[in-house]
Amino acid sequence: MDDKHDGPVTREGIRLHSAADFAGMHVAGRVAATILDEIADHIVPGQSTGELDRLITDMVAAAGATSATIGYRGYQHASCISVNHVVCHGIPSEKTLKPGDILNIDVTVIVDGWFGDSSRMYVAGELSRKAERLIQVTHDALMLGIEAVRPGNTFGDIGHAIQSFVENQRMSVVRDFCGHGLGRVFHAPPNVLHYGRPGQGPVLEEGMFFTIEPMVNLGRPETKILADDWTAVTRDKSLSAQFEHSIGVTASGFEIFTLSPAGRFHPTWR
Ligand code: MF3
Ligand code: CO
Ligand code: CO
Repeated sequence: MDDKHDGPVTREGIRLHSAADFAGMHVAGRVAATILDEIADHIVPGQSTGELDRLITDMVAAAGATSATIGYRGYQHASCISVNHVVCHGIPSEKTLKPGDILNIDVTVIVDGWFGDSSRMYVAGELSRKAERLIQVTHDALMLGIEAVRPGNTFGDIGHAIQSFVENQRMSVVRDFCGHGLGRVFHAPPNVLHYGRPGQGPVLEEGMFFTIEPMVNLGRPETKILADDWTAVTRDKSLSAQFEHSIGVTASGFEIFTLSPAGRFHPTWR
């Protein structure tokens, strides 16, 4: 077991955190959310994703935080920026945004040892009707998943809430990536699947911290990884969207650690 920790762990290896731990996660989550608020005004056609990442790197430092992604398994950037048919783990580059491009920006920071992990959707210029619908469905799917979070429910209840809603909209849920436990570590048990059946999976208990971060495709759910070993794209080249919050289970439900202080989690473009 990790010697940075004490306190109870379930038989599935899921840590149960204290009230003081919730306070640490709220601080870290707020730093991540504030960075995602402040980057919004920089997203315009002609901007490069590399420049967006440099701005994010500076914001992380200005907040007195540490990037969780720089140096993580060899990753070298403070954000993942996933444009159009990129599902997740897009690497910032000097390639520039075109009018109508949609993008997910995913930022994870460490503050006082606690990890804050969140992502949202943005648009460069004007949003197409089909992209707007995809983004709206993905956001609503995340929030429906979060609303299933309370002690006694299961992780399968969360996945089912997301999958059934998305598939009713004739879109698909990506299976190849999932949410994760976090806290004083970036990725911990359990794997938080964005599909599933009611009543299946571990039972939720007060004090669990994890992300929910559904990826939704307009076409088929299959993905592939590009030769850079990071970038995940839709196999059928259809558009993909994602939203991510870090949350904690309370006695009566949940708290979201990564709420936007500016009220700009969604939409980011107004
Ligand atoms: N922030 C991502 C997540 O939601 C992980 C990114 S790892 C990186 O779990 F190395 F690609 F940055
Ligand atoms: Co995450
Ligand atoms: Co993330």
